[in-house]
Amino acid sequence: MSPAPTASLPTDRRIAGPLLAWYDRHARTLPWRVSPSDRREGVRPDPYHVWLSEIMLQQTTVRAVKSYFDAFVSRWPTVTDLAAAETDEVMKAWAGLGYYSRARNLKKCADRVAGEFGGAFPGAEDELRALPGVGPYTAAAIAAIAFDVPAAVVDGNIERVFSRLHEIDTPLPTAKPEIGRLVGAETPGDRPGDFAQALMDLGATICTPKRPACALCPLEDLCEARASGRQESYPVKAAKKAKPVRSGAAFVAEREDGAVLLVKRPDKGLLGGMAGLPTTNWTVREDGETGPDAAPFKADWRRTGVISHVFTHFELRLEVFHAVVTGREDYPGWWSSSDSLAGEALPTVMKKALASAFPDRF
Ligand code: ADE
Repeated sequence: MSPAPTASLPTDRRIAGPLLAWYDRHARTLPWRVSPSDRREGVRPDPYHVWLSEIMLQQTTVRAVKSYFDAFVSRWPTVTDLAAAETDEVMKAWAGLGYYSRARNLKKCADRVAGEFGGAFPGAEDELRALPGVGPYTAAAIAAIAFDVPAAVVDGNIERVFSRLHEIDTPLPTAKPEIGRLVGAETPGDRPGDFAQALMDLGATICTPKRPACALCPLEDLCEARASGRQESYPVKAAKKAKPVRSGAAFVAEREDGAVLLVKRPDKGLLGGMAGLPTTNWTVREDGETGPDAAPFKADWRRTGVISHVFTHFELRLEVFHAVVTGREDYPGWWSSSDSLAGEALPTVMKKALASAFPDRF
C-alpha cells in the first residue's frame, strides 16, 4: 500500500527507538565514524572527515573508499591542508575512485571552506548545499552526522528500507519526495546523525536488495512488506533505459626500453585533468575513429583487443593498439618507465587498456 499524503504521516516516530537500540549494538566500525558509545562520551565527529567520506561514498562502495579515506586524511589531516595542496596532487590521490569531477569539486570546496569559513565547515544544510560538489543528500548527511541537525537523509539504502516499511508502489525515482517526507517525519531530534547512519547500516547489512535478513531486523514488526511477504518486490523501480555506446581507440606507444607514452587529458570533460593513454575522441558514430589511422603518429600499430568501461551515461568501447616506437620527444606527453607505469595514477579505463596491451603486467 502506498502511504497516505503528508497529513497522515506517522508523527509518533516509531522506528527511531528500535533502530537506535540496534545501532548501539551493531554499528559498523568505519574509519570516518564515531561509534555510538564514544558519541555518548561526548566525542564529536570531525566535519572534515564526514564531508570527505560522504563525497567519496557518493558513487563508490564503503569497501573501496576506506583505503582512499585513510590515505587522504594522513596526507591532508585538515581541510586547510587539503586547500593548500596542488590540484594535480589531489587528482592523483583520487585516481581509481572514478567520477573525477568529484575530486575537482573536492578541492574547490576545500578552498572555499578554508578561505571563507576559516577552515570550519558550516553546519546548516543550506550553507552546506552552497558548497561545490555538495548536493541535497550530502548536505543533509553532513548536517546530521557532523552537527546533529535533524535533517532527512535519504540515500539508496534508505530508499529501499522505507519503500519496504511502507510498501511504496510508486516507482523510484518518482517516489523520492514521498520517501523524503516519511524519513523527515521519523527523524528524531535526539541522535539524528546516528539515526541516519543506522538506516545506512541496516540497508547495507540486513535490508539488502536480495534476500534481506528480515528475521534479524529491528524493524521487522513495523514493516509492511515483511508482513505481506513481498519484501523483495520493493523498491519498485522505473525501467532503466539501455546506456548508449561510444567508441574510440587508445594507443599504447612503447619505447624500446619499455617506457610508455602518457598524456594529461584536457581539464574539461570526462576524466578531465587525469593522466591517460593518447586516445581518439569517443563518439557515438558507428564510423568513428577506431582504427590505427586515428593514431597520434605513424607507427606499426597492432590491435591488441577491445576493452569496455561503463560510465554513468554511456558505455565506452575502446579498440586498443600497441606499437614499439623510437622515442617521440616532440609529442606533448611523457614517457613513463616500465618500473613506474604500474604506479601511475591512472583511471581504471586506462588500466584496462594497458592490460590489453600488457596482459602480464596489469
Ligand atoms: N554511505 C554513505 N554515507 C555513509 C556513511 N556515513 N556510513 C555508512 N555508509 C555510508
